[in-house]
Amino acid sequence: MSEPQSFYEAVGGEPTFRKIVARFYAEVADDEVLRPLYPEEDLGPAEERLRLFLMQYWGGPHTYSEQRGHPRLRMRHAPFKVGPLERDAWLRAMRIAVDEADLPPHLEQQLWNYLEMAAHSMLNSWD
Ligand code: HEM
Repeated sequence: MSEPQSFYEAVGGEPTFRKIVARFYAEVADDEVLRPLYPEEDLGPAEERLRLFLMQYWGGPHTYSEQRGHPRLRMRHAPFKVGPLERDAWLRAMRIAVDEADLPPHLEQQLWNYLEMAAHSMLNSWD
């Protein structure tokens, strides 16, 4: 008997997450709200962390937690101001990245619902 397919597999596995997260970080690199938040000059390591996290979340390999431990994302974002402006900039960049991945509509909707919910839940400042 075969296992039911995970969302990770249904969207095409690692190459799809690689594409979405790379496109997202290309937007971050040019974004005057988001870019200053990232402490490192090289966005590559941050890109890898987000990619591995999303792969794990959607049923792919658990490399993120092997390298970083429990995600605890709200705690990990505490050093960075995430107000409505930052959240909206993050979602704007992610919207572009998700649109360009051209996923089947029902999968895209599932991914987007999660990303919107997660971005709202990361708020740690109200100005
Ligand atoms: C890390 C900003 C939302 C997942 C970071 C970092 C910044 C940041 C500045 C540090 C970069 C680094 O890893 O070196 C933001 C802003 C958000 C947001 C402004 C606006 C709402 C999200 C959401 C998710 C997410 C919604 C997940 C769906 C991550 C992950 C890391 C990270 C996995 C790396 C954590 C680690 O292992 O250290 N984010 N983020 N972020 N963010 Fe966000």
